[in-house]
Amino acid sequence: MKPSTRAAQRDDLEAVLAIEKSWPTTAGWTRAQFESELENPRSRFVVAEEEGRLAGYAVFWSVPPEAQILDIAVAPDSARRGLGRFLLDVILAHARRLGLKKATLEVRAGNEAALALYRAAGFSVVGRRPRFYPDGEDAVLMDLGLS
Ligand SMILES: CC(C)(COP(=O)(O)OP(=O)(O)OC[C@H]1O[C@@H](n2cnc3c(N)ncnc32)[C@H](O)[C@@H]1OP(=O)(O)O)[C@@H](O)C(=O)NCCC(=O)NCCS
Repeated sequence: MKPSTRAAQRDDLEAVLAIEKSWPTTAGWTRAQFESELENPRSRFVVAEEEGRLAGYAVFWSVPPEAQILDIAVAPDSARRGLGRFLLDVILAHARRLGLKKATLEVRAGNEAALALYRAAGFSVVGRRPRFYPDGEDAVLMDLGLS
């Protein structure tokens, strides 16, 4: 069944947090951080549902002219079935509708799944921040023109 997306709501946060905690490579946000995204006028927080179950989510900030992608994750048992790409395409289309010109993000240098996802969607590597993460891993900076 094709997944669907909608704006996140407070009732979604338990399922969102369960996914966030299930991967070592997410931003590691707390409930308070997700709650603040629900309130933040810059934030676009989208969830994906499959067969009535919350199976993924993505958050970006609209900071014209940029869409800053902050978090994207799928449930581990929904991985590698196209859901991450579907969510990414949904938020990129949303960003285009908002008139944003560029999508930007940073990703752990060792996060092969995310790097491959972003490359497949057309993102290019534009920089690197050495030892950016608290555990010493580098961040790779990527962007994609939206025009
Ligand atoms: C990154 C993530 C969202 C990808 O979601 P997904 O639903 O598994 O990805 P898709 O099935 O849509 O895959 C799209 C493409 O991404 C790449 N990809 C996804 N998972 C991969 C993996 N484990 N290894 C290598 N490439 C992978 C492939 O290029 C894939 O295309 P293909 O299946 O045609 O080869 C998912 O792995 C995830 O939630 N990771 C944990 C959270 C995270 O690290 N988020 C990124 C923070 S910047």
